[in-house]
Amino acid sequence: MYILGMESSCDETSAAVVRAQNGRLEIVSNIVASQIETHRLYGGVVPEIASRAHIEAITGVTDEALSQAGIGLSEVGAVAVTAFPGLIGALLVGVNFAKSLAYANNIPLVAVNHIKAHVAAAYLRDDAPRPAFLALVVSGGHTALFNVTDYTDFHEIGATRDDAAGEAFDKIGRVIGLPYPGGAALDRLAATGDAHAIKLPSPALGADTLDFSFSGLKTAALNYINHCNQQETPVPRADLAASFTEAVVGGIAKKVEAALLQTGTRTLVMAGGVAANSHLRRRLTDLCGRLGVRFVVPPLSLCGDNGAMVAAAGFFEYQNGNFATPTLNASAADEPLA
Ligand code: KG4
Ligand code: ZN
Repeated sequence: MYILGMESSCDETSAAVVRAQNGRLEIVSNIVASQIETHRLYGGVVPEIASRAHIEAITGVTDEALSQAGIGLSEVGAVAVTAFPGLIGALLVGVNFAKSLAYANNIPLVAVNHIKAHVAAAYLRDDAPRPAFLALVVSGGHTALFNVTDYTDFHEIGATRDDAAGEAFDKIGRVIGLPYPGGAALDRLAATGDAHAIKLPSPALGADTLDFSFSGLKTAALNYINHCNQQETPVPRADLAASFTEAVVGGIAKKVEAALLQTGTRTLVMAGGVAANSHLRRRLTDLCGRLGVRFVVPPLSLCGDNGAMVAAAGFFEYQNGNFATPTLNASAADEPLA
């Protein structure tokens, strides 16, 4: 069957067609219209502008996904849409579009959790992992560890208590003059600096929890920058990028190791925009190698927001019979609206 996946939770409008055949998922088309250039002017995502841009892009993106796939709506077996969490105005565009499309064409509709969709991107690999596994979701909006016991069953065992890792990368990127979103540029800059030049606090909280806190680390880095400015000495940008990255990567690796040992899981899946970070990938590859754990990351092109991951997650909701009704509403929170 073909699943049409739709994503509009933040600053990417995306539609994709995924084919499910003999238990395997394959991308047939995946169209992503990014608004990054628009939001760059403001140094971050402006929710109202995002909603308007989704409205402008969504019809064309969907037409393109179907046309590249060479199928019509009559061949779509399910429409899957990100319904939560995210920016409410942005989500509403995708949800209402998908609802109308499904209703008018008599196609089953499934609501998808954006966080589960990031993890489902791993199922689009040729060597797709199978639950149970440990999932680390690191994105602009989330940093959390889940015990994934089945395709649709996620149990959170650790999470950030404040900012997300991507948010922290973007904030530091911005203050050292990198264009929004700073994550990818900071990744490259960090490769040229000394990771031990500046001492910064770890985002890993105490030994009795798998939670994180990035706000202290962010404040320490900002204080360091302010101190340099007061002393009228140039900020050593590469060393700061490298030291900041080291603190983030070290803190995440520490909690991932604790979670792997605690749960006895033999597979780790990392997903979300920050999963593209080369330093984090390397550190977790080494950790998993040392522990004899299989480490799976979605293809780089599927780490950021896209419709294909939504279609993949939607397929498993469909298989479970979790259909949405025409009363489906979007929710900004991690939970669907009751
Ligand atoms: O998953 P995503 O596309 O959107 C959310 O659901 O939040 O993640 C976007 C985040 C941004 O904060 C961006 O800076 C970060 O992913 N990011 C990276 C890298 N590439 C993207 N962060 C660190 N290193 C990267 N290479
Ligand atoms: Zn995302």
